[in-house]
Amino acid sequence: MTSTVPSVARVDGPEKASGRARYAVEHPLPGAAWAWPVTATVPAGRVADVDPEPALALPGVLAVLTPDNVSRLDPAGQISPAHGAAVPDLMVLQDHRIAFRGQIVAAVVAETLEQAQEGATRVRVTEEPDAAPALTFAADDPAAVVVEMTNDLSPGQVSRGDADTAFAAAEVQVDETYGTAGQFAMPMEPHAAAATWDGDRLTIYCSDQGPSWTATTLASLLGVPVDDVEVVAEYVGGGFGSKAAPRPPIMLAALAARHVGRPVKVALDRPQSVDLTTYRSPSRQRLRLGASRDGDITALIHEATGQTSRLVTYADQTVTPSRLLYDVPDCRTTTSAVPLDVSTPGWVRAPGEAPGMFALESAVDELAGQLGIDPVELRVRNEPAVDPATGHPFSSRRLVECLRAGAERFGWAQRTGPDRVRRTGRWLHGVGVASAVYPVMTFPATATASIGSSGPAVVEIGAADIGTGARTVLHQLAAEALDVSMDEVELRIGRSSLPEAPFAGGSMGTGSWGWAIQGACEELTKAIAAAGGAVPQEGLSAHFDTTEAIGAMGAYSRHSYGAHFAQVRVDQDTGEVRVDRVLGMFGAGRIINPATARSQIVGAMTMGLGMALMEAAEADHRFGGWTTRDLAGYHVPAHADIGEFEVVFLPERDGQIGPVAGKGVGEIGIVGVTAAITNAIHHATGIRVRDLPATPDKLL
Ligand code: MOS
Repeated sequence: MTSTVPSVARVDGPEKASGRARYAVEHPLPGAAWAWPVTATVPAGRVADVDPEPALALPGVLAVLTPDNVSRLDPAGQISPAHGAAVPDLMVLQDHRIAFRGQIVAAVVAETLEQAQEGATRVRVTEEPDAAPALTFAADDPAAVVVEMTNDLSPGQVSRGDADTAFAAAEVQVDETYGTAGQFAMPMEPHAAAATWDGDRLTIYCSDQGPSWTATTLASLLGVPVDDVEVVAEYVGGGFGSKAAPRPPIMLAALAARHVGRPVKVALDRPQSVDLTTYRSPSRQRLRLGASRDGDITALIHEATGQTSRLVTYADQTVTPSRLLYDVPDCRTTTSAVPLDVSTPGWVRAPGEAPGMFALESAVDELAGQLGIDPVELRVRNEPAVDPATGHPFSSRRLVECLRAGAERFGWAQRTGPDRVRRTGRWLHGVGVASAVYPVMTFPATATASIGSSGPAVVEIGAADIGTGARTVLHQLAAEALDVSMDEVELRIGRSSLPEAPFAGGSMGTGSWGWAIQGACEELTKAIAAAGGAVPQEGLSAHFDTTEAIGAMGAYSRHSYGAHFAQVRVDQDTGEVRVDRVLGMFGAGRIINPATARSQIVGAMTMGLGMALMEAAEADHRFGGWTTRDLAGYHVPAHADIGEFEVVFLPERDGQIGPVAGKGVGEIGIVGVTAAITNAIHHATGIRVRDLPATPDKLL
C-alpha cells in the first residue's frame, strides 16, 4: 500500500476545539486530592530536616510527603530502552540529597489545589547547602567527561582517517567556537498527572509521549507487575521531548496517591515545569573545517560540550550529523558533558542535531566565504556517494535536489555578493542557506486489528498523539490498509494496555506504529478472506509485531534531508532582526498527510527561529536553577515574528525504510534553519553571530 492519500483534517479537531478532549488532570477522579511540591532553594546540599506540622495544621491538608515517609522505589528499577530518562531523576523523595535547585524535597497533599499550595508554603525545610556549587561550564572545562558512543546515532567519539593531520595540512581552514543557549521545550500543557491506585493496581493519566514505555518504567520503579500499571495519555498538549519519559511530577502523583490511599492530581505550574523536567543543554562547540582551494572539504573536527547533572550523565547527539553530511575523508567527532549542580538536561526537538547543525552549517558558510564559492555550490561539491561514516549506501538522499530546487524556488541567484550590501532605509537585507538532516529510526511496535459481524473495524496500538496529528495519520493508514473509508475504522491509542508501541519521539512514530498497523490490518484482511469474505459471528482479530521485519532490514544509511533558505533584514540602528521569508525544501519519503506534515515542519522551523533569535534558558549564576522560568522571561517566537514560511516536500520513494515509506517530519524542520537565519544575518550585516541567540546587542 503506497498510494498517496489526500490531506485529512485532524480527526480529533472537534474534541480539542470544543474542550471535550480530556488532558491529564482533567479526568474526573472521584475523591481526588491534589499534591504540590516543596522544592529545594539551594543548588546542592542536603535536606537536614522537614517539619510538616505547620502544614498539617491547615484545613484540608491530608499529608506531607518527605524523604522519611515516602514508600521506597526500587533503585534497581529499569527504564525502558531508549527512553530518554534515567533512574536517578525519577527517585522522587528517596533520599536527602539536593542535586539541583527546584528539586522536590517534600510535597503537600490536600483536598484542593489551593490548600496544597498554601500547605507547601508552611512546610519548614532545613537545608544544609554545599559550599561551592558549580552552575555553569566553560569551553575547555577541566571537569568535562568524554561520553562514549553506543551506536551509529549516539554521541561520543568517532574517528575516521587522521583529521588532525589533514586539518593542519589543509589549504584553507575554519576553526571557530560556536555556542548555543539552553532551551526549554515549553509545551502548552504543563507536566501533569492524575494517579489512582486500586490495591496494587495503578492507573495514571499523564501528559506523556509514550504510554507503553512509561508503564514499563513506572512498574519497575514502583515494584509492581507491568500489567498492573495503566498509563493513559489520550490527549497530550505537546511534549517536544520533555515528556519522552516519565518525569518527577508523574512519579510524585503515583507516590502521593499511594501514600494517602486516594486519587491524587499533580499539575505543575510553568516555573516548576522548567525546574523539574528536562531542557536542552547549552553547548560549546569547536568546529574545524579544512578544505582545498577549489572547495573539497578534506578535514572535519567537531567537538561538542554540554552540561549534565550530578545524577546522570546525559549528552545530546550534537556531533552526529557532522559524521555523514559531507564527503570528508578525515573526520573526528567528540562529545563531552560537564557535571554541574543542575537538573538533568534531556531531549528537546532534534536533541543535538539542532545545535550541532547550527555549528556545522555556520562553519560551512564561513568556509564558503573564505573560498569565494557560493554556499549552495560548496555543499553540492561535497556530496558523498555513500554514507562516509558507515560506508553504507543511502536508502535515499535528496540533499542536492533540495539545495538546487530550493535555490531555484527561493530566487537564490538574485542574491547579492557580500560586498554589495542591500539596504532600504535603516534595514540591511540578506539571505542565507543551510542543509538539514535527521535520521530515520524505526522501533519495534505491535498492533491489533479486529472486526465484529457489524460495526467498524477496531485498530489498537499504544501510540500517543502529542499534538502532531498522529491519531489522524494512523487512522488514514489503517483505513488504507483495510481498503475501507475512515469512518469504517475506529482507532484506539494513548493507553499502555493497548498493544505495546514505542514513544512519540525521534520522528519515528508514524513509520514505526504505521508498520504495525499495516501488518495487523493486512493479517485481518487475510483472515476475512480465509473466512470466505464474511466476518463470522464471533468476529476476527489479528495481531502484528514488527520486531522480526525490522531486524531483517538491510544495512542502509537512512536519513531525511532538506535545505532551508532564509531572507532576513536587520535594523542597523537597533539590531532588530526580522525574518521575512524561509523556504524549507525536504526529501522526507512518502508524505501521508500534507497538512499535518506541513504543520510539523512549520512548528519546527518556528522553534529554530526562536533558537536563532530569542530563546535562551538563562542559568542563575548565584543561586542555581534558572532565571527564565516562565514565558515572560523565556522568549519564544509569536505570530508577529514569523514572516512567510514555505514548506515543500520533494517526491521521494524509499523502499528501505519500511512499508509506511515516510521518513518522519517531526524534527528535520528545526535542523539547519537556525544557521540559515544567522548566515542571512551575516550576509546582511557582515556580523557573524557564533553565540546564540542573535539578540540585538550582538548586531550593533
Ligand atoms: Mo523528540 S526530542 O525525540 O521527543
